[in-house]
Amino acid sequence: AKIKYIEFDGREHEIEVKNGLSVMEGAVRHNVPGIDADCGGACACATCHVYVDEDFLDVTGRPSAMEESMLDFAENVQPNSRLSCQIRVSDDLDGLIVRLPENQH
Ligand code: FES
Repeated sequence: AKIKYIEFDGREHEIEVKNGLSVMEGAVRHNVPGIDADCGGACACATCHVYVDEDFLDVTGRPSAMEESMLDFAENVQPNSRLSCQIRVSDDLDGLIVRLPENQH
């Protein structure tokens, strides 16, 4: 699926991410800056924080309880905040837009 990552400064990266990968893995494999993913996708670091575009909130679904509690460690959390390692890419997500926070701490 095609995913658009928008950095905090507005730089856009439109990337074809293979189904089955996470939104975080898609960014890391294509060197999109702004997603640290310190824990490698285990939902244990909150450094893969992204904001899901409002139009896609229905398709990405809601964070799990575990993800919710990890999000407490991210800064500037908003209602559309997600940990990108917990969003699995599929055809349904084609065109997804995620915005990256100013920093990941
Ligand atoms: Fe660590 Fe997502 S990569 S929580």
